[in-house]
Amino acid sequence: MRIVLLGAPGAGKGTQAEALAAYWKIVHISTGDLFRYHRDHGTALGIMANEFMAQGQLVPDGVTQAMVEERIGQADAGNGFVLDGFPRTLPQGQALAAMLQARHEKLDAALYIEVPESVLMDRLVGRRICPECKANYHVAFHPPRVAGVCDQCGAVLVQRDDDLPQTVQTRLAVYKEQTAPLIAFYQGVGLLRTINGNQSPSEVTLAAVAALGGTHD
Ligand code: AP5
Ligand code: MG
Ligand code: ZN
Repeated sequence: MRIVLLGAPGAGKGTQAEALAAYWKIVHISTGDLFRYHRDHGTALGIMANEFMAQGQLVPDGVTQAMVEERIGQADAGNGFVLDGFPRTLPQGQALAAMLQARHEKLDAALYIEVPESVLMDRLVGRRICPECKANYHVAFHPPRVAGVCDQCGAVLVQRDDDLPQTVQTRLAVYKEQTAPLIAFYQGVGLLRTINGNQSPSEVTLAAVAALGGTHD
């Protein structure tokens, strides 16, 4: 199973990617998480990427594509993957198609998680993440059992520095301009599946599994 997730910042790509990766026993590849990992480890790639991320802008296509190509070539991606946050521009979509063709692999679906713009800001400014195990929470919609503490590993939760209101505005504008055209791109090649992302996370997962042809029992 090879899936791409499409959706605005805050649509729930990361939340659903985890669930879908567990369901199909495939790897979850998030370009945002990869860039944050590099940033936190002070690599040259991470330092460069952070100049764009902190502003809410996209990291240039060339470096992003090279990072993804390397990642999908690793052994654990052999069974499939759920790509979260890539592609994010039309050139990235074309590059992914070329990468997969060269590997004699193909994409099964592009799942578009549709959410009204009015709910995105609340979701993002209330998000908290675990700096250790990367688990994802929301102060109101998905709170941890103990406020501010990760359920899974006990670490103190933090806020992403690009989840401040002004940077969120920029990210939403960048999404509309550069990423939303991928919806028509995937519709054109017959891979688009659209689900309603404005329901509870578990209901979104049910809709996603159904749209991708899985069954729940
Ligand atoms: P990235 O980390 O991918 O950020 P994003 O696309 O802005 O998406 P988010 O992670 O903010 O949202 P999400 O859809 O994953 O939502 P989540 O599940 O967390 O990218 C960060 C930056 O890296 C970019 O700005 C860019 O600079 C760079 N970058 C990354 N990829 C790139 C690329 N390909 N090219 C160039 N640059 C790239 O949910 C959000 C919140 O809502 C959470 O708190 C969650 O608990 C809550 N929530 C989730 N689902 C629901 C629900 N159903 N109901 C209520 N609350 C919910
Ligand atoms: Mg995410
Ligand atoms: Zn944790």
